[in-house]
Amino acid sequence: MGIFRTKPIGEEQPSGLKRALGPGALIGLGIGAIIGTGIFVLTGVAAAEHAGPGLMLAFVFAGIACAFAALCYAEFAAMIPVSGSAYSYTYATLGEGVAWFVGWLLVLEYLFAASTVSVGWSGYMVSLMNQIGWHIPAELSSAPFAPGVGAGDIVRTGAIINLPAVFVVAAITALCYTGIRQSTLFNSVVVLIKVTVIVLFIGFGASYIDTANWHPLIPPSQGPGRYGWDGVWSAAAIIFFAYIGFDAVSTAAQEAKNPQRDMPIGILGSLVICTVLYIAVSAVLTGMVHYSELDLPAPVAYALDKYPALGWLGFLVKLGAVAGMTSVILVMILGQSRIFFTMAKDGLLMPAFASVHPRFQTPGFSTLVTGIIAGIMGGLLPVTILGELVSFGTLTAFVVVCIGVLVLRSTQPQLKRPFRVPAAPVVCVLGALSCGFLVTQLSKNAWFMALVWTSLGLVVYGLYGYRHSKLNR
Ligand code: ALA
Repeated sequence: MGIFRTKPIGEEQPSGLKRALGPGALIGLGIGAIIGTGIFVLTGVAAAEHAGPGLMLAFVFAGIACAFAALCYAEFAAMIPVSGSAYSYTYATLGEGVAWFVGWLLVLEYLFAASTVSVGWSGYMVSLMNQIGWHIPAELSSAPFAPGVGAGDIVRTGAIINLPAVFVVAAITALCYTGIRQSTLFNSVVVLIKVTVIVLFIGFGASYIDTANWHPLIPPSQGPGRYGWDGVWSAAAIIFFAYIGFDAVSTAAQEAKNPQRDMPIGILGSLVICTVLYIAVSAVLTGMVHYSELDLPAPVAYALDKYPALGWLGFLVKLGAVAGMTSVILVMILGQSRIFFTMAKDGLLMPAFASVHPRFQTPGFSTLVTGIIAGIMGGLLPVTILGELVSFGTLTAFVVVCIGVLVLRSTQPQLKRPFRVPAAPVVCVLGALSCGFLVTQLSKNAWFMALVWTSLGLVVYGLYGYRHSKLNR
């Protein structure tokens, strides 16, 4: 059966991509992809509607689930340093059928994340513009479609297009098209800005903490998913989005100078730094403001605006958020184009996706297709439809990667593993279970849309990938 064929490890062809990235740039890529909409936008609703000050615990739990997955990614990325990430690892372990399924889910993660974050970017940008006296009409800065009442229902909103979202995706696509070095240089500058802003928030905000706001740490339950431990789990599923991105480091494996050594550093280093920052931000945020006030699109800026002495920082935080989201979009577009590139090299997508731009040495065609689709979706769809699909795709890929490590340890124990997951049976099983649990916390709407997406993927695989697979020839 062709769908079970696996791709041999260690026979990767040279990619033609430029090897320009060291450990610092890789950690930067990870942080670039991680810090964005999640911490600047979603923390508010997660605290106000679900966990209260227990938001801190939600960040700890989601961080632990991600740490298990990150260890598994690190083992794979050092052992199979190709640009396809979870798709390639699955191709080597669980066979072509599951690999296609994972590759298709990664589109939900990377491409849809680029769109989701472009919508968040647009929201912050419009508010910044307003502050300096430039008004962009709502019809030109919001989505024409919104989710209806039933699963899969979509209604018109009266708006025409979200132009700022389209603009940012177009600009970043152009940057990614013209070179990995420029892209990562830009990323490093932006990462510096957003990390500085977050550290300033923690540093200055800490002295305004009123510890009374932390009691009780978990407010009493008010129904399913609202406060109590159930609320903490729901919050963890929501803010999981904030952690997405450390795995994107693995898509740069063929552009890393020394992937065997530096992939684990990039993946684990970026996750550890962001986890520490996130827990600190959630502690300061819920300490400065009572959680019930936080149900807002810009909770971090709101907390600062409450204290006149910190007003100057409020504007900086908005700038930092815009910068932060810009780099998330950048790394997601970079990652998606590398995954298309790898799938096409394996024959599962049309050969054009595997072409390398002769001058820029980037996967030019894949980058353009990624940018065009992400731009159209960002221009037309709201964050609510897109965001949960991103978490669905990512979490499912994490589950498969955790299982994949164990499978490969038993089928090919002799392979050289520059990095090994410690206590693998325990870590991998806990990783698969915790990420699987978070998938079950997502809404019915997300499950419905993911089912539609997966069915579409099966059709494409049946009509094209299965027959053109290089392993078929
Ligand atoms: N982790 C990224 C964000 O929060 C996707 O924007």
